[in-house]
Amino acid sequence: MIRKAVLPVAGLGTRCLPASKAIPKEMITIVDKPVIQYVVEEAVAAGIKEIVLVTHSSKGAIENHFDKHFELETTLEAKGKHELLEELRNIIPDDVKIISVRQPEPLGLGHAVLCARPIIGDDEPFTVLLPDVLVDGQGLERNDLAGMIEAYEKNGQAQIMVENVPRDMTHKYGIVDLDGETPEAGKAAPMASVVEKPAVEEAPSTLAVIGRYLLPGAIFPLLAETRPGAGGEIQLTDAIDTLIAREGVQAYRMQGATYDCGHQLGYLEAILAFAKRHPKFGAGFQDLMQRYAAEE
Ligand code: G1P
Repeated sequence: MIRKAVLPVAGLGTRCLPASKAIPKEMITIVDKPVIQYVVEEAVAAGIKEIVLVTHSSKGAIENHFDKHFELETTLEAKGKHELLEELRNIIPDDVKIISVRQPEPLGLGHAVLCARPIIGDDEPFTVLLPDVLVDGQGLERNDLAGMIEAYEKNGQAQIMVENVPRDMTHKYGIVDLDGETPEAGKAAPMASVVEKPAVEEAPSTLAVIGRYLLPGAIFPLLAETRPGAGGEIQLTDAIDTLIAREGVQAYRMQGATYDCGHQLGYLEAILAFAKRHPKFGAGFQDLMQRYAAEE
């Protein structure tokens, strides 16, 4: 059973400035919820019970969002606002725990994941969800993270979620080499290697790592030995490349849609996708869209 997820949220979000100056970028709203809540809901939907936030002193709002707000709840109760109260109380189910650790220095994604080692331990497989990436499982029987867990349970190998990106974007991602194979959506294939942010002409494929990982505890000793790589940072990708040689790793091709919320247009697209099917605001939003389209 995969029970734990690590969410690295310590990054300062310079790409989202000025929105992220005084609030964490993970707290920017998509329709009526902060982006981090969608990511936590995705993990919970896949059966995760323990969420480890790897965070920074300036990002307390994230922990507050998942904590009980006693004064607010008491006020809503006194005012008879029961529906809102229920919504607040159900931000995370009672059996899901949020734990946080700090990443004291911005040394890279690999280092951020390593900060969770004392909580996860070296013997248990766990997931990693990058909160910049929203993965939309709308219309799927089970979301992609659950699909990765299923694939792991079948073959016992680490799973890295991938999707095709335009070739001229490969330098922004971890890019996998699958010996020319491209698995069908929802299926996994063995990885030959993975490289972080290769030059476009050196990218081994156009299949990019999309911010969801299922890793064995054995990744921690590898991370502890990983030297700084691309951008001078300790890269998770480099430790995964070593893991391939040690015990094999698979690339899981995603089925759902993805929005890059580390980027303003990605946020806007996510807002469009989630707003138009929102149970409360969807119909009104679609009217707005038609009105604005007609004005063009
Ligand atoms: C990180 C990972 C990269 C991955 C990307 C997905 O890069 O290092 O391998 O493809 O997330 O969003 P970042 O976007 O943090 O530079």
